[in-house]
Amino acid sequence: MSPGEYKSRGKFITFEGIDGAGKSSHMADAVAFLADQGRTVLSTREPGGTPLGEKLRELLLHQAMHLETEALLLFAARREHLERVIEPALERGDWVICDRFSDASYAYQSGGRGLDRVKFAQLEQWVHPHLQPDLTLLFDLPSAIAARRIVAQARDLDRFERERTDFHERVRQAYLERAAAAPQRIRVIDADQAPEVIRKLIQDTIARHAS
Ligand code: TYD
Repeated sequence: MSPGEYKSRGKFITFEGIDGAGKSSHMADAVAFLADQGRTVLSTREPGGTPLGEKLRELLLHQAMHLETEALLLFAARREHLERVIEPALERGDWVICDRFSDASYAYQSGGRGLDRVKFAQLEQWVHPHLQPDLTLLFDLPSAIAARRIVAQARDLDRFERERTDFHERVRQAYLERAAAAPQRIRVIDADQAPEVIRKLIQDTIARHAS
């Protein structure tokens, strides 16, 4: 950048939803859509996104632990991710597309596992007091349908995917509760629609945020 040239801060977009709602393939489409528009896009994920975060992800997905340990490790990985990857990219003016963020901790740890919501709020306040995504796309699907999709994929399941349908239904309800509390930021997408309909919806929503 030449002296005096001002580069505006990038946008932070997150993809959320219960396991099996299909967010990952739509996230890849959204990254390609933004890149086609000439944006510099950083695609990342949680838990993970840094070398330490990826090690913590391995533990979180496969090692049984107390629910508060789980929440603390998720937010520890998030602190690292914000510091080393997300904040620097936004500062450079890049767009950051992240597969899950703190809404997932609200939904899975508080909604699914029963972590005290005050403790969740304290962790969120500690780790990112001034940052929330600019836009969150929440893929919503009845948990019974999501469970059938996961089984149809016929692969090894992680600790969260192996949870019963009632756990995923609590996660889903917590996501919807969070969306109702932040309707400007969180856009709920009915994930039980044809992929091309969803793709168009996502592109239109993102395009509105590009201005
Ligand atoms: P995800 O990357 O969506 O799984 P996959 O690679 O199978 O698509 O997410 C991994 C799991 O981590 C998911 O089941 C939800 C869980 N998770 C939490 O419980 N809390 C969190 O804060 C985050 C970020 C993820």
